[in-house]
Amino acid sequence: MILVVGGAGYIGSHMLKLLRDENEEHIVFDNFEQGHRDALLGSPSFQGDLRNPNDLLRVFEKHPDIDVVMHFAAYISVGESVREPSKYWHNNTAGVLNLVDAMRFAKVNKLVFSSTAAIFGEPQYVPIDEEHPKSPTSPYGQTKLAVEKMLSDFDRGYGLNAVCLRYFNAAGADPSGQIGEDHEPEEHLIPVAILAALGKRPAMKVFGTDYDTVDGTCVRDYVHILDLAKAHLLAVRHLRSGGESRHYNLGNGKGFSVRQVLDTTEKVIGMPVPREDGPRRPGDPATLIASSEKISRDWGWKPEYPDLETIVSHAWEWHRGHPEGYGDHPDDVVVSRK
Ligand code: UFG
Repeated sequence: MILVVGGAGYIGSHMLKLLRDENEEHIVFDNFEQGHRDALLGSPSFQGDLRNPNDLLRVFEKHPDIDVVMHFAAYISVGESVREPSKYWHNNTAGVLNLVDAMRFAKVNKLVFSSTAAIFGEPQYVPIDEEHPKSPTSPYGQTKLAVEKMLSDFDRGYGLNAVCLRYFNAAGADPSGQIGEDHEPEEHLIPVAILAALGKRPAMKVFGTDYDTVDGTCVRDYVHILDLAKAHLLAVRHLRSGGESRHYNLGNGKGFSVRQVLDTTEKVIGMPVPREDGPRRPGDPATLIASSEKISRDWGWKPEYPDLETIVSHAWEWHRGHPEGYGDHPDDVVVSRK
């Protein structure tokens, strides 16, 4: 059985869809602070918080057949992490320490961990491969890099096998339109653009037009959420067949500027995206493009949806059916910090 920590979030809920399709037995662990119960679509869940070690002990006690853990339960806003680093270190790093300790007590030694391109910081070259120097420019990136290092120590000390998947820009949604991206507050480019076009928020700001890129706006590598989910499944198979710890970068290997994404969005949704040029957002590197050669070589991973129009049209499918998002109100959770 797979324990999906943070399964009610954007990436986690797409993972659940794939696990259901593959008949993989699983249980979600989520505090529902940011995640949505409606995103579970029938997957079973256990309400708990990573920052409370007892919650973790209880879930492993209740489900002694858990053999693999996937972790998606991080705070992900780069800007917020600068303003509130404590929140990020408690959840993103100390929370994972609680998780791997609980795994150790439960004798579970397989983990798939959501890492990020943010661990690399300002790129020294692109595409960014796994060997690229790691020098995060935000507390968010620091917390994820710290976990990668912690997992190496747990591997050496306790035999924990962990696959760290470093996502570039996760985007799109399940083509069914049933689940999608709904963050509070929403800060990611594609949903922000769609919500501005729908009149659900004011004209969006283009953060910086003087970068050394094709049109002066930042270039990013947008990778379909289902392609990310598939990489997790490959990681589970690797770990279950006795595979050792690995690190992989996950992207399409192709970059698009902010303006190119906005133009594609307008074309796909057939509406203008109200936008204004604004200043640079602190901490944004000019260009981030992944090299995913290693995971394609090792496991044959290949994006099924590399095309930006497809990625945007799947995101659109979700938003036009759910202009208010999931419409639920995340629970008021009392988080105990021990
Ligand atoms: N952007 C705008 N206006 C907006 C929102 C975004 O111009 O309203 C721009 C950003 O400046 C950036 C690009 O659109 O150049 C993409 O921004 P996102 O916020 O969608 O994504 P980021 O590239 O900042 O961050 C994403 C993840 C992070 C992860 C990072 C790693 O959200 O968690 O990729 O590459 F760390």
